[in-house]
Amino acid sequence: MNDLGLQSLIDALPAWVSGVRFFPETDSTNRRAMLWATEGAAHGSLVVADFQTAGRGRMGRDWVAPPGSGLLVSIVLRPRLEPDLHPLLGLAAGVAVCECLAGMGLEPGLKWPNDVLLAGRKVSGILAEAAPGVVVLGIGVNIGLAVMPAEIASTSIGVEEATGGQVDRLEVLAGLIGHLAPLVDGPPDQVISRYRDWCRTLGRRVRVDLGSGLVEDLAVDVDAGGSLVLAGGAVIRAGDVTQLR
Ligand code: BTN
Repeated sequence: MNDLGLQSLIDALPAWVSGVRFFPETDSTNRRAMLWATEGAAHGSLVVADFQTAGRGRMGRDWVAPPGSGLLVSIVLRPRLEPDLHPLLGLAAGVAVCECLAGMGLEPGLKWPNDVLLAGRKVSGILAEAAPGVVVLGIGVNIGLAVMPAEIASTSIGVEEATGGQVDRLEVLAGLIGHLAPLVDGPPDQVISRYRDWCRTLGRRVRVDLGSGLVEDLAVDVDAGGSLVLAGGAVIRAGDVTQLR
């Protein structure tokens, strides 16, 4: 993208955005955003890429997306929230993606903590990474996965497949930021109440991979700090959920 292209990208985004760095190709927008944060990037700074060679996912996984097929963005936040409540920012990103997709006529839902699903298939993933005084929200949204990587073909979906038409990534980004900004700057209880509305894990039996072992139970709530509460009383702060029925 030339300077003119970058300027029109910036112009199309809500005024909340304080700066944008665009990379045709980079290793990981999250890594770039964290680096920029250490150089002083302000709250609301965005790193956007067309392609990542080392996209990071949750639980040490990779995030794989062919060039130009997805929205790949990392957002630098300088939260006023207590660090204990920082997990809410990742949940806020999930809510913002859902609200943006719902505005396009789709019916998304969240699998705790913040996998966005359409008809049971993953359309977006979120990786929140923290350093002192900074949270980087990394958001990947599958847009046009015409050539779907084999490893994700049966479990993933693109927004274009779901809408049946062409989708402008920049419009999705602008919509997403428009929903995210008031959530991250607003009261934390708003995030949780909106999150509960979108969360399709609640009321389902789940198997949670904690890294240190598995737990299976009914998911009954998400508490004020964003943890998943199971019927037997377990409170899960981090884990990989499979929804059983
Ligand atoms: C997951 O579901 O495992 C989270 C995936 C997060 C992927 C996004 S793509 C933009 C940003 N940069 C990264 O390296 N990861 C996040």
